[in-house]
Amino acid sequence: MKKFRKKIVAGNWKMNKSIAEAVDLAADIKRELAGNVDVDVVLCPPFTALKAVGDIITDTPIKLGAQNMHWETDGAYTGEISAAMLRDIYCHYVILGHSERRAGFHETDALVNRKVKAALAGNLAPIVCVGETLPERQAERQREVVGGQVRKSLAGLGEDLDRVIVAYEPVWAIGTGVNATAAQAQEMHAFIRETLAEMSTAETAAAMRIQYGGSMKPANAAELLAQPDVDGGLVGGASLEARSFVEIVRAAL
Ligand code: 13P
Repeated sequence: MKKFRKKIVAGNWKMNKSIAEAVDLAADIKRELAGNVDVDVVLCPPFTALKAVGDIITDTPIKLGAQNMHWETDGAYTGEISAAMLRDIYCHYVILGHSERRAGFHETDALVNRKVKAALAGNLAPIVCVGETLPERQAERQREVVGGQVRKSLAGLGEDLDRVIVAYEPVWAIGTGVNATAAQAQEMHAFIRETLAEMSTAETAAAMRIQYGGSMKPANAAELLAQPDVDGGLVGGASLEARSFVEIVRAAL
């Protein structure tokens, strides 16, 4: 059963942009995208710029997302930010389990799962990242790896599973300029959807959105986004400039 899924394009600005730069970028994107209602657009600046970017886009359909959060609601967790704090500044989304956090900050599937549950309880839509490394793909283990990440990171969500957005980000494609081909992306997205169906129902899986991330650029976005199971993009480098980000959003229209 094929359901209509609104495409969703998110810019993950990672650890880039001062507040002033972030405000300028958000204002440019807002101006360029005025009137767009057919694609969900999300900006994910660093924590320091969330409030200022939120103020710029407050009167538009563009939504705010954070790049990480803690799984507890409050308490003695120095340096951490809770779901409620993100809601407090009008965040609607939060990226969880990004490969840079899995690799650099020891985030396991079990930990990502706690964060996903906390995000949902805090009324945030989690964008949950999964993806295999280059050695894993070379060993043809991508399905085993990604299937495991999906099952464990999204375990035990029950009826809330369909509030999750999955981002397939092959690690070998992130920041390398080497994107997955459209065929590789489609194959993995279809596999992720099958896995989601096994975890819930075919109907739930058909309604869920799966973004592609990894060297998505204006030059390759249209072909990737035309694949039947590619429901949007999670864009890193190309989201740091208004022109390239907006071109990718337009390719999703
Ligand atoms: P690039 O688009 O820079 O490859 O980054 C992708 C990414 O990690 C988005 O979360």
